[in-house]
Amino acid sequence: MSPLHEKLSAILTISQQMNSERDLSALLDLVAREATRLLDADRASIFLLDKQRMELWSKVALGNDEILRFDARKGIAGAAALTGKVVNVGDAYNDERFNSTIDSQTGYRTRNLLAVPLQNLIDGESVGAFEVLNKRTGQFDWEDEEVLKSLAAQAAIAIQTARSIGELTRENANLRREVEGRYSRRQIVGASPKIQAILQLIERIRDSSVNVLVSGESGTGKDLIARALHYSSPRSRRPFVALNCAALPETLVESELFGIERGVATGVNPRIGQFQAADGGTIFLDEIGDLSLAAQAKILRVLESKVVERVGGRTSIPVDVRVLAASNKDLEAEIRKGTFREDLYYRLKVIHIHMPSLREIREDISLLANHFLAECCRDSGKQLELSPGVLRRMSEADWPGNVRQLQNEIKRLVACARKPVITEDDLLEGIPEADPKPRRESTSQAASLKNAVESLEREMIGEMLRSTGHNQQKAARALGLSRQGLINKIKRYRLTQFAR
Ligand SMILES: Nc1ncnc2c1ncn2[C@@H]1O[C@H](COP(=O)(O)OP(=O)(O)OP(=O)(O)O)[C@@H](O)[C@H]1O
Ligand SMILES: [Mg+2]
Repeated sequence: MSPLHEKLSAILTISQQMNSERDLSALLDLVAREATRLLDADRASIFLLDKQRMELWSKVALGNDEILRFDARKGIAGAAALTGKVVNVGDAYNDERFNSTIDSQTGYRTRNLLAVPLQNLIDGESVGAFEVLNKRTGQFDWEDEEVLKSLAAQAAIAIQTARSIGELTRENANLRREVEGRYSRRQIVGASPKIQAILQLIERIRDSSVNVLVSGESGTGKDLIARALHYSSPRSRRPFVALNCAALPETLVESELFGIERGVATGVNPRIGQFQAADGGTIFLDEIGDLSLAAQAKILRVLESKVVERVGGRTSIPVDVRVLAASNKDLEAEIRKGTFREDLYYRLKVIHIHMPSLREIREDISLLANHFLAECCRDSGKQLELSPGVLRRMSEADWPGNVRQLQNEIKRLVACARKPVITEDDLLEGIPEADPKPRRESTSQAASLKNAVESLEREMIGEMLRSTGHNQQKAARALGLSRQGLINKIKRYRLTQFAR
């Protein structure tokens, strides 16, 4: 074998090594080392091209961890990177393309150098340059050019793989941080003693994997709490699998939860179940009160044995899963009715968190309203404020849909806002949620005919709005009023959910 052939076959061996190196800076080190050896050079540097800034940068050139950056339009490496051609210079200081500032920065004296472009093999685009300095004996010749080109081609592939892996890893870490931030305890807003106690409890159990049952009316934040429990636990880097039990048809419960083996029936694909998918992490069984007794028995068995058996399978698969469950039903009442298993209830309820209705934490309404306002403003790019009057009315209103309803109301107000401050008047538009408790006492207390008439009017309008599903057109017609007349009266009597 000729010396050139020997070198080229050595490159193939090196390239295998390069392709298994995932860390970009270790890879660059390896390539530079091999280049120095194969080309009998004193130094080797790999420069990557930063197209946006038209700069070349390198970590290796200085032999330490400092990064060298310079204008790609100056210097020999830049010439190779930008023209895509080999540049072989026998006497550096007599070549006008040579950039001697690097030598003065590094204290190195370049005599001769060879630079080849680093090209992306798919589209031939230049991604940088590969440069060797100071041949130990004589000058770099055409064989050296062939060797360096071949090494550069292999290195380009490995560099791209390492870079995209690095980018993916970074992207993944960013995404994870985003998800963790979105579901962290910090997103739970509330200064009331009830919410503060819940936050403290979450903090206290963050290192344990106990099962938690979250109860509470619809829209009180059960989902939010379940995610916060998972993302503040040591399991946060493992899956969070949420399953809505109410949406699970009886016939699919088993295969969905535990998986299904190959060959169970024709046309049925094997797959893993949700318990296995959540292995090492958390499974969130939402609306658990809607599971059939049969399904409850199956879940209880998994909680007790910590293994799952796939449908049609004969082996037990061990699973390590924390179970969080939520329900807006009163499970103790379900137990009395015989529709929920008591033993399962106690397994799930190692810790019980009851989410208060919004009526019970009125002191948090302003805080929540402003929190949602900030969120909506961020999404829509608007800058809005809630007037003190609006906040007061919101704090006094009844919110049967709890926090979710308040959140939706803020979304609506932000979408409809035409001025920078949202005032009480804005509440009256389009939300004719009549007062569910008409003020009968004012009838008895009516001091005058006028008061009595107003009181009666208010009751009749409220009643009509409720019975028409808040359709102003229908309600106005039934009451013998014009639509505008009705709206005026709604305003006058503050007949919205915000009137008490
Ligand atoms: N204390 C809180 N702080 C901030 N946001 C909250 C709070 N409580 C609830 N939310 C928000 O209100 C909305 C409804 O909450 P969530 O979906 O968790 O309620 P839920 O109890 O699971 O409702 P459902 O019973 O209907 O499933 C979500 O957007 C949630 O982020
Ligand atoms: Mg929910």
